[in-house]
Amino acid sequence: MRLLATLCLSLQLIFKLSSCTNLQVTPGSSMDLPCLSIQTEFTAAAITWQFNGKNISAGVPGFARVKDGGLHLSIPLVTAAHEGEYTCLVKGDTTEILRIYSVRVDASIVYTVKGYEGHVIYLPCQLPGSTPVQANTVWSKDTDSGTQIQLNFAYDLTGEPHAELLYPGDHDQTVIMRNLVMEDAGIYRCHSAEGEQLSTVQVLIEVRPITETFSCESFASAWEPCQDENSRTAGPILQESIAEFSMNAFSHLRESQPTGNLLFSPISISALLTHLLLGARGNTQRALESAVSVPHEFHCVHLQMKKLRERVAGSMQIASQIYYNPEMNISDFFSEQSMNFYGAEPTRLLETGEANSNMINSWVANKTNNHIKELVDFLSPSTQLILLNAVSFRGQWKVNFEPKPKKGMFTKLDGSMVNVPILFHENYMTVVAFMPHLKAQVAKFNLTGDSSLYILLPRASTVDALQEVETRMTYSDLQKMITQMRTITPSSIEVTLPLIKLNHQPNMHVLIKKLGLSSLFEGANLCGLYSGDRLVLDDVRHKAFLALTEQGVEAGAASSISFSRSYSAFSALQPFVLVLWSDEANVPLFVGRVTDP
Ligand SMILES: *[C@@H]1O[C@H](CO)[C@@H](O)[C@H](O)[C@H]1NC(C)=O
Ligand SMILES: *[C@@H]1O[C@H](CO)[C@@H](O)[C@H](O)[C@H]1NC(C)=O
Ligand SMILES: *[C@@H]1O[C@H](CO)[C@@H](O)[C@H](O)[C@H]1NC(C)=O
Ligand SMILES: *[C@@H]1O[C@H](CO)[C@@H](O)[C@H](O)[C@H]1NC(C)=O
Repeated sequence: MRLLATLCLSLQLIFKLSSCTNLQVTPGSSMDLPCLSIQTEFTAAAITWQFNGKNISAGVPGFARVKDGGLHLSIPLVTAAHEGEYTCLVKGDTTEILRIYSVRVDASIVYTVKGYEGHVIYLPCQLPGSTPVQANTVWSKDTDSGTQIQLNFAYDLTGEPHAELLYPGDHDQTVIMRNLVMEDAGIYRCHSAEGEQLSTVQVLIEVRPITETFSCESFASAWEPCQDENSRTAGPILQESIAEFSMNAFSHLRESQPTGNLLFSPISISALLTHLLLGARGNTQRALESAVSVPHEFHCVHLQMKKLRERVAGSMQIASQIYYNPEMNISDFFSEQSMNFYGAEPTRLLETGEANSNMINSWVANKTNNHIKELVDFLSPSTQLILLNAVSFRGQWKVNFEPKPKKGMFTKLDGSMVNVPILFHENYMTVVAFMPHLKAQVAKFNLTGDSSLYILLPRASTVDALQEVETRMTYSDLQKMITQMRTITPSSIEVTLPLIKLNHQPNMHVLIKKLGLSSLFEGANLCGLYSGDRLVLDDVRHKAFLALTEQGVEAGAASSISFSRSYSAFSALQPFVLVLWSDEANVPLFVGRVTDP
């Protein structure tokens, strides 16, 4: 009996391992061919590798290395010369095992993506150009018979598409593929709607190494308190994180919306994500830390966020809140810390969607002095957790404009002109300078509440000129601009600004994904908040509103050295970029763009 069983097993092994594997690989990639996919006690002497019939068991320098006593053949840099048949032969006492790989080197493959069964992968594809996207790309998969079938983005039984465009309508046409199965392996191609091939991706699927069962056991504890509450360095660390996050977020948002009006409040989004960080552990914690640009395990982050919120409170109200399904048990320590650091006690959702929308909207209206009255319109009954954030800012000019309403012609990006109400002053005390590193003429307007509005004018009213400025707006270049502008003496010049009132709701789903936080939508480790199952983030919203009134208060002027070119006029009757900066906290409160006032 025993002998028979052993024999069966050997047969099975042979059957499984002597099958031939066809591989397509990219020149320039690396390749690792396992001889056996199971651990065995075979010794090195028993294993022979051949390439196109030639014995390469000793390895061939510059071509292939034999590793682990023959268990792997490693090719660090694939070239056309590597195309052919690789054979691994294992001689046992009673059996011979043969493993054959037929390798084709395909120069049209641009990417090779590896994923485990059940996991998620991303297939990259980028539409060229800076003009808005007219149509999404078409994705197809090569079949065994040499034809191609179009990828189906339809919803499956689980309610979520197996494959889906991450950012429809965006230049980034990356596809996300979830719950990978072996059959997903193969060659995928991305074409433009006109048929131009944009990328070719080879997908390799591996068997999941171990089945992971998720448990909060080792994670469910409170956020570690800040050791040094009066640290001099913790404040600047957070300030720098927010400024860096702001410019990252701006670059993602302007990419997904290259030409229209844009407005968002980086400090608000950063506060929202940091609030979530309070309950995040493990990989989710790391992903959030990296998204908001704070160092790993910077325990003082929440305390500093609280101090920052208090510092800007004179001009800006920031409110965040967490609502959760009553069937969940939110950790007591999370509720306590959330209340302490964010002034928000997690609140249970009500029975119906309508009751929930009303509850949330009245909370938001209250927290924003009625500037934002409606943040959500509908809430699904399956919602487990919802994070909200609302900000409101009202700034007044330190130097008044002429009270008489005027009109002016604003030149839009396409060259057309529109008649708009304007703010005008013949001799306005302000600082205007050309910033060569930003390719923009910049004006600074002092506002009440210890903040300033910077307006950055591109050299022309074109998409190219606008993008030239926007792509240069990194954190360090912005910081340089602010430092330089502070050293220049104000002078009196003619100023024309369109009356702006921006109301914008940026696409937070896209932003969250672009910040590397897609995993939140798939299952997050929020064990610091709730120690049941993995949570899936349902919704994340942000609404920003900015109004600059005609009134203001007179301010005294101070002097310092000037090294700017002098201007006699500043007219923002063309597309521009704006940054509303808190001089008190040294972080951006709003970043935006006006192309159509
Ligand atoms: C292949 O080469 C290795 C090392 O040079 C040698 O030990 C082995 O006997 C050779 N195998 C065959 C089948 O020639
Ligand atoms: C929530 O807590 C209550 C009381 O401690 C307990 O009875 C209940 O089973 C818990 N529910 C879940 C889903 O853990
Ligand atoms: C917000 O609610 C508080 C407490 O109910 C109330 O005192 C305050 O006036 C409200 N604010 C607004 C703007 O409605
Ligand atoms: C704006 O504020 C800064 C800093 O408080 C000050 O130095 C400058 O003179 C002000 N500009 C004007 C035009 O008042």
